[in-house]
Amino acid sequence: METLWRLSKRYSMVIEEYLREKIRGEPETLYEASLHIIKAGGKRLRPLLVLATARMLGGVEAEARALPLAAAVETLHNFTLIHDDIMDQDEVRRGVPTVHRVWGVPMAILAGDLLFAYAYRLAGEAADSGMDPATALRALREMTEAIVKISEGQAFDMMMEKKWDVSVSDYLKMIYLKTGSLIELCARLGALSAGASNEVVSLMGEYGRLIGVAFQIRDDVLGIVGDPKVTGKPVYNDLRRAKKTLPLIYAYSKLGEEERSRLRSLIGEKASDEELSKAAKMIENAGGISYALSLAREYSERALEIIKSLRAIDLEARSALEELAVYVVEREK
Ligand code: IPE
Ligand code: IPE
Ligand code: MG
Ligand code: MG
Repeated sequence: METLWRLSKRYSMVIEEYLREKIRGEPETLYEASLHIIKAGGKRLRPLLVLATARMLGGVEAEARALPLAAAVETLHNFTLIHDDIMDQDEVRRGVPTVHRVWGVPMAILAGDLLFAYAYRLAGEAADSGMDPATALRALREMTEAIVKISEGQAFDMMMEKKWDVSVSDYLKMIYLKTGSLIELCARLGALSAGASNEVVSLMGEYGRLIGVAFQIRDDVLGIVGDPKVTGKPVYNDLRRAKKTLPLIYAYSKLGEEERSRLRSLIGEKASDEELSKAAKMIENAGGISYALSLAREYSERALEIIKSLRAIDLEARSALEELAVYVVEREK
């Protein structure tokens, strides 16, 4: 993962400085709330994907053209996190208290809205960075479509909290919408910045979709077996909310009627930490974790094949994207 770390460090610094420069204003409280989790860090995986894709296909000039879009997707991501934490009633992210916990729900909604608007402002600035206007408009439109998908996916995610008859294919559709679509967008934006052909843009989009889905499956696994000190997020929250994650869906499908009702009784708002940990054990013993990981690995391998099939003008960026496809399923945070 050496190349991935090197690029990740370099891009994180660039993006963080860019965002510090661009996102400022009054009132102070609103900006503090909006910048709270941006400042707390995060992996900055989405801007990395935009920039590394642009560089792989179009070299350093394409990478420079892609910078406003890379900043836009990280801003957009942070907006979704602020609102997601309200929806999921989560109290800690990136190792710090969530925005709504510190400033209250009304200000957190607004902080998210502000970042949403900034994401468009930044994406619009792509037209000032040497990108031709038609491509910049296409980028804006693709970003819009991804946000529509995220909203739909988040709605499915919430509706599934109340249901038990959720199939693996319902789940895969939901995580593509809520998570995969943004990661797909990032890869497509990188390719568009490089002036790639429609065929290459589609292939990169497919790569992004595959690693995006694998990434969310891994996230769901970490929600059951992850270490909060490493992930920066509490463990078992998905179980507390009865989120239909892949390990749970699989385990539930393998259990008999009696065990199913026992599992249902160990999950939910009222469950104690001890009960949730018993539920986690049941899921693990029923093969939920290993099933989820093997499916995620299949997605990762398919993504890897796509990257290997593409012509790259920058080999460092290509290596980083190959490593990224593996990283999404192996990551501990
Ligand atoms: C969290 O995304 C939301 C999901 C799609 C699972 P990340 O795991 O990329 O979060 P940060 O940006 O590194 O904090
Ligand atoms: C991630 O949702 C998707 C978005 C934020 C749009 P999750 O709710 O699964 O992610 P975490 O676990 O809170 O980061
Ligand atoms: Mg959440
Ligand atoms: Mg959520």
